[in-house]
Amino acid sequence: MSSWINECLPEHLARDGCIKAVGQADVIRNEFSEATFERIIDCSGKCVLPGLVDAHTHPVWAGDRVHEFAMKLAGASYMEIHQAGGGIHFTVEHTRAASEAELLAGLQQRLGRMLRAGSTLVECKSGYGLDLHTELKMLRAIERARTSTDIGISSTYCGAHAVPRGKTAAEATDDIINNHLPKLKELKLSGEIQVNNIDVFCEKGVFDLESTRRILQAGKDIGLQINFHGDELHPMKSAELGAELGARAISHLEEVSDEGIVAMARAKCAAVLLPTTAYMLRLKQPQARKMLEEGVIVALGSDFNPNAYCFSMPMVMHLACVNMKMSMNEALAAATINAAYALGKSDTHGSLEVGKQGDLLIINSSRWEHLIYQFGGHEALINYVIVKGKVI
Ligand code: NIG
Ligand code: FE
Repeated sequence: MSSWINECLPEHLARDGCIKAVGQADVIRNEFSEATFERIIDCSGKCVLPGLVDAHTHPVWAGDRVHEFAMKLAGASYMEIHQAGGGIHFTVEHTRAASEAELLAGLQQRLGRMLRAGSTLVECKSGYGLDLHTELKMLRAIERARTSTDIGISSTYCGAHAVPRGKTAAEATDDIINNHLPKLKELKLSGEIQVNNIDVFCEKGVFDLESTRRILQAGKDIGLQINFHGDELHPMKSAELGAELGARAISHLEEVSDEGIVAMARAKCAAVLLPTTAYMLRLKQPQARKMLEEGVIVALGSDFNPNAYCFSMPMVMHLACVNMKMSMNEALAAATINAAYALGKSDTHGSLEVGKQGDLLIINSSRWEHLIYQFGGHEALINYVIVKGKVI
């Protein structure tokens, strides 16, 4: 991949928001006169890469969980904190109390940081409301961010992120299927909300396999792509279920079974691996090498959330290489075209091809690998972030 990218340097032309041509500089110069362009960026000695795609984020929430970091460092597990009313429950309480405008302001600021770290398309989940009112407030904030920020967004309804206090998982499942999803369908049809994906946290003590199946199938029935949390802390057979339901993607998969890996490969269901979470929670690393060998489409996500506070896909690629033994080429593909696939957008995003959306990064190095090799501080390495042909 490095030679392909280097050979294509330095000219990539974007017009009407789409890439107009890709090729050698002299060929492109002959094809287009300089007068065609509003602006020419000299990329000599630099690299042009596709904009990064972050296939998994939770960027809409209020409240601060920095205190939990100290608890985890002192040995508390993710589920111990969750079961004691912290974790997602803490964030739900603060998110319910926040106004839509407050949520939007926090979201815009976080999306701005993702963009500066090179992400041009990100998945954004709801999931810190759990009740219909707050889930819709979060989805509306995402909708307003879609039109008020430059970054591309794929939005995900994640009302089954935790079992709300005072309800059983069965009651929560019924509420989602009978109340949340019909309302979402109505808002989608009226064009008020463009929700794209449905997510469930399929985990021991959260939503079991049967509840997960019911919710995901009901989401699919209203036209949502299935893209859910599975096999993270315990083996749940989430991968097998996702493959059976035609899921577009499953995230985490630290505890996936061998059969689940094979089923995902057959079903062309993408594995969204989240190196920040495995690192933060000191979990077993997902078996990226085995998945790649079996032919699974491996994508990456930051999992940005109050537990894994990372905006940066370059950092995520670095962790994927060091901790999951992915090559730099594999990590770049996972953070671009494969992540776009996980969001159902690989026809328009994730690579530098004529006709695709003009989302690119210009890196201040003749070796693109610096984007992964350097550990942090990527804003200084990324000279330009370009979305739909516009320099941000
Ligand atoms: O993907 N595992 C479930 N959901 C998130 C964490 C959310 C939270 O802790 O607030 C995740 O890691
Ligand atoms: Fe997550």
